[in-house]
Order: sequence, then C-alpha cells, then structure tokens
Amino acid sequence: MSTAEKTFSKGLEGVVAAQTEMSFINGTEGILEYVGIAIGDLASQSSFEETVFLLWNKRLPTASELEAFTKDLRSHYTLCDEMITQIKSCPKDAEPMHVIRSMISMLAMYDTDPNANSVEAARQKSMRILAVTPAIVAVFDRYRRGLEIVPADPSLSFAANFLYMLNGEKPTEAMTRAFDICMITHADHGLNNSTFAARVVISTLSDVYSAITAAVGSLRGPLHGGANEGVMKMLNQIPTVDDAEAFVMNMIKNKERIMGFGHRVYKAKDPRASELMTLAKQLAEDTGNMDFYNKSNAIEKVMEREYAAKGIYPNVDFYSATTYHCIGLKLDLFTPMFVLARIAGWSGHVIEQLEDNRLFRPTTDYVGPHDVAYVSIDNR
Ligand code: SDX
Repeated sequence: MSTAEKTFSKGLEGVVAAQTEMSFINGTEGILEYVGIAIGDLASQSSFEETVFLLWNKRLPTASELEAFTKDLRSHYTLCDEMITQIKSCPKDAEPMHVIRSMISMLAMYDTDPNANSVEAARQKSMRILAVTPAIVAVFDRYRRGLEIVPADPSLSFAANFLYMLNGEKPTEAMTRAFDICMITHADHGLNNSTFAARVVISTLSDVYSAITAAVGSLRGPLHGGANEGVMKMLNQIPTVDDAEAFVMNMIKNKERIMGFGHRVYKAKDPRASELMTLAKQLAEDTGNMDFYNKSNAIEKVMEREYAAKGIYPNVDFYSATTYHCIGLKLDLFTPMFVLARIAGWSGHVIEQLEDNRLFRPTTDYVGPHDVAYVSIDNR
C-alpha cells in the first residue's frame, strides 16, 4: 500500500474496522437498534435472556427456543469449587474489576478444551462465561465482606439470580426488572473499545477466554465503562442539588472531563441514557434517593447549556450510576455490572469475527528519522 493511500485517523475515529449484524447506531439522531429493534422497545418489552438470544442468533426466539436457551444458561450458573477457592485466594481489598478479569482468564484452566475456537465452541464458551460471571462477582463481594457464599439458584432469571447471590435474599420484582433493563441497555454497542479489543484478540485465532479477558481490561478504563463509577464519585462530591451548577461550572473552568458525558459516536443524547434516566427516576422515588436523581438532572441542564453545541450529551454511564446506587450496589461494583451485560456483546462479536475472520493488523505512518549511524556506547 503506498504512503499516499494510507490515511491516519487518531483513535481510529470514523474507521470501519468490522461489519456486524448486531448493533446499529445513528450518532446524529441518537438511535440504537439491536438487530433492527429499537433499544427502547427491547428495554420495555424484552428480557436480558431474550436480548442475548437476539444478538447471538440475529432474530428473536420462539417461546420454546427461549425456554431452551434460558435452561442452558441456568445450567451454567454455578461456579466450580476450585474457582471459589481461587477467588478466596484474592486479597479482600482487591479491585473487583481486577478480580473479574483474572477469574475469567482463570476459567480457561477449568475448561477441558479451552482453545477450541470453532463457532460452535465459541458459543458454548460464551454461554459459560456469561452464565458464571455473576457468581464470580457475588462470591468475591460476599467473601470480602466476610459473609457466607450464596449458591446460584437456577430457578431464577439472570437478573434475579445475581441479586440473590449478592444479597442473600430474593430480590423484589421491581429491583429484578430494573436490573434486567440495565443488562439489556448495556448488552452491545458496535465497535466500542472493549469489543474491538475482543475482536482483535480472537482474530489471531487465540481463545475466547483471552478475548473476553482483554475486553474486561479495556472496559475498566475511566474513558469507557469505568465512567459510571466516576459519575457516582462526582455526585457524592456535590453536597446538594443547589450546589450542582457551581460544581460543574468549576470543573468546566478547570477543563476537567465530566464523567458520563460525551461519546465518540453520539452527538445527540445516547438513547440508553434516556431509558436509564426514566428508570433512575422511578427507582430514586421508590428508594428515597431523589437527591441523586435531582443532582444528575441539574448537571444535565448545565451541560446542555454549556456543551450541547459541541455535541456533548449524557451517555449510558450518566444515569446508570444513580440506577445502580438505588439497586443497592456498591460503587466499585458499578463497572462490573457493565461487564455482566457486555459479555453478551463481546461474545457476539467474537462469534462474528470467527465466522468471517481476517487478522487485524493496521499499519503506522512512520514519522521517525532514517539513515541514522550506530554510535558505540563509548562515544555517546
Ligand atoms: C462508553 O464507544 C462506545 O460505544 C462506548 C460505550 C459502549 O456502550 O461501549 O458507549 C460506553 O464508554 C461511554 C463513554 C463513557 N466515558 C465517559 O463518560 C468519559 C467522559 N467522556 C469522554 O472522555 C469522551 O467524551 C469520550 C472518551 C467518551 C469520547 O471522546 P472522543 O470521541 O475521543 O472525544 P475527545 O476526547 O477528542 O473530545 C472532543 C472534545 C474535546 O474538547 P477540545 O479538546 O476539542 O476542546 O470534547 C471535549 C474534549 O475536551 N469533551 C469533553 C467531554 N467529552 C469530550 N469535555 C468535557 N467533558 C466531557 N465528558
């Protein structure tokens, strides 16, 4: 390829690096569809299990297909004793995202055929990782709190089973539904950084565990999935809703990034932020957390006045912070929640990559010197 043909796009902005049948995003209009179905319709009418089936099979399931898919998922909920022992060997003050990344990688050692990467093998491993990662999070959290491990309950949905394993009691319908909506809205989102990481790794025909591990590592970054924790830290620093405007204006004056705002693709409000805003308001009312919701709303109004012209709007992380807080999740479990959902998207992209693979190997524009003489160390 001649130099003239090479074009450099920093951060690969605007570069089409893969084709997908899963998420369609129109960043100008603020549209997100999973296999053509609007995210709002899925959030209001679907379930996380049905959404995963949709993403992996490119169509909605029949009732019997959904029943079989759900049965298969639930059959993998339980973490083996060896993995529980591994989790209990982690320092209790370890960051949950480091534990999750390490344990998903560790899962490969308890798979009898870890390197199999046919499409069918990738589907099976994806199902296993998706099903058991909630237990990894719940086991570590209860272990670090000095509480008994709560075994998975295969009679419960994905959302209800996670909250049950975490809290040791069956969640209410409302909390289960709220968590399910969070999982649906976070499941997939085109070629975001962590999904790209997964595709890059599997494109070498490495294994599914390595690909998902790489994606977890990417997601924890504060510019990506880690932003939801950053939003909560910001909300906790604002004493009352009346202080929100001055707090944000000071951040803007100091040229600080406001977590939960801005997006490489959306130049309108992220449709997921709208769904989660509605959910956050309802949950905040039900749980007596309206101050968090009102502070968020006040921040959004300031940012709309100051930054809408630059195309900076709330993204998925902005209202997910209040939502997770109202569900009762600890701050350092917010980004792990993003992992639980996005394993669906990462896996779907791993499968798509394997179905039509070509090794990812971009090029560089060399801007260094040429014809430089080697100088021996004595003469430097
Ligand atoms: C996710 O890609 C995906 O789809 C990701 C995701 C998914 O579902 O997988 O949607 C999930 O990661 C959402 C984004 C979560 N991250 C944050 O909320 C962190 C805060 N946001 C940013 O740092 C930023 O908006 C990014 C990283 C999300 C996008 O950055 P870009 O596209 O690289 O844009 P940029 O950093 O080049 O910024 C362009 C301009 C800059 O101003 P100038 O230097 O041109 O004057 O916009 C400004 C930036 O300073 N800007 C912000 C801002 N985001 C961008 N200014 C203040 N606050 C912000 N949040």
